[in-house]
Amino acid sequence: MHSTYFLAIETSCDETAAAVFTEEPAILANLIASQTDLHARFGGVVPEVAARAHLQRLLPVIDEALTQAGIRLDQIGCIAVHNTPGLVGALLVGVSAAKMLAVALNVPLIAVNHIESHIYACRLAAGRDIFPCVGLVVSGGHTCLFHCRSALSFELLGATLDDAAGEAFDKVASILGLGFPGGPAVEREAASGNPAAFQFPRSLLNDDRLDFSFSGVKTAVLYTVHGQDLAKGHPPPAGQRRADLAASFQQAVIDVLAEKSRRALRRTGLRRLAVGGGVAANRDLRAALEQMVNEEGAELFIPPMKLCTDNAAMAALAVEKWRQQQFAPLDLDAIPAYTPTR
Ligand code: KG4
Ligand code: ZN
Repeated sequence: MHSTYFLAIETSCDETAAAVFTEEPAILANLIASQTDLHARFGGVVPEVAARAHLQRLLPVIDEALTQAGIRLDQIGCIAVHNTPGLVGALLVGVSAAKMLAVALNVPLIAVNHIESHIYACRLAAGRDIFPCVGLVVSGGHTCLFHCRSALSFELLGATLDDAAGEAFDKVASILGLGFPGGPAVEREAASGNPAAFQFPRSLLNDDRLDFSFSGVKTAVLYTVHGQDLAKGHPPPAGQRRADLAASFQQAVIDVLAEKSRRALRRTGLRRLAVGGGVAANRDLRAALEQMVNEEGAELFIPPMKLCTDNAAMAALAVEKWRQQQFAPLDLDAIPAYTPTR
């Protein structure tokens, strides 16, 4: 039987990505052009630089995705795009390109929520249904727990009240002089450190809600490094002390994520935990969640690293919307803030 081919676009932050997949869904190509080199010297993502780089790179990335998939553009039967959340200028590049392609090819356009896609990456990687499940998204901009009744029905159970988990990793990397991007750098440094060397706060663990807070642990690392008088400008720590700080910080974040996910499983009575977002690439977090889920007699779904960090293949959530004919209008907007879709 003839399959429908989907072309998906992701430009929400600093990865320019395009993917081709079938209605199964099966991934035929998953291309990611990272902009890390462009932003590293600024110590973070600069929105205008990101948008400009998307403009330059998106069409070549789409071309390459089609080539790798062995599919011609005129064989594409549906265009999917992440239109929320993200940097508005960056999102607009992807949304505009997606609309243009949908019009030119005369095929449906589907708008996909990037946060919900991070959970769908688990469904893609598993190759089988994972719903209903508890969903944990741990990315650079978001930390959320969901009750996912189906791929298209997410109920928000809790979210961060301040910094996202990935944001805390990035800021602590900067405090420790580990550079950008912070998450992988902290993980590498933590590997030779003692996670019990410093007792950093596990915020909101005594709170009944499933919300998170990571600004306290970040500030605790800052004060431990510089003292309370930041004006004195101490040099970043080095050697074993730096490794111990990284390991202790990472452990504090992991403890909170694992414990709140355990509570979400118990509260919902669900037996599956699906985890997505860049921080889910962290090996120690993966191991801690695996252990917790085993203790709870539940099942863990985490995609391989390449599907944890930003990509366009996870927009295969579009296949579920396509089945329900949930198409987007051609005046589709880019929406920077995250609003749960239902
Ligand atoms: O999902 P993602 O690629 O982009 C957003 O949607 O935000 O997540 C990026 C975040 C960054 O904050 C990055 O530092 C973090 O994920 N990250 C990690 C690791 N790899 C990426 N955090 C901890 N450990 C890692 N190995
Ligand atoms: Zn993301």
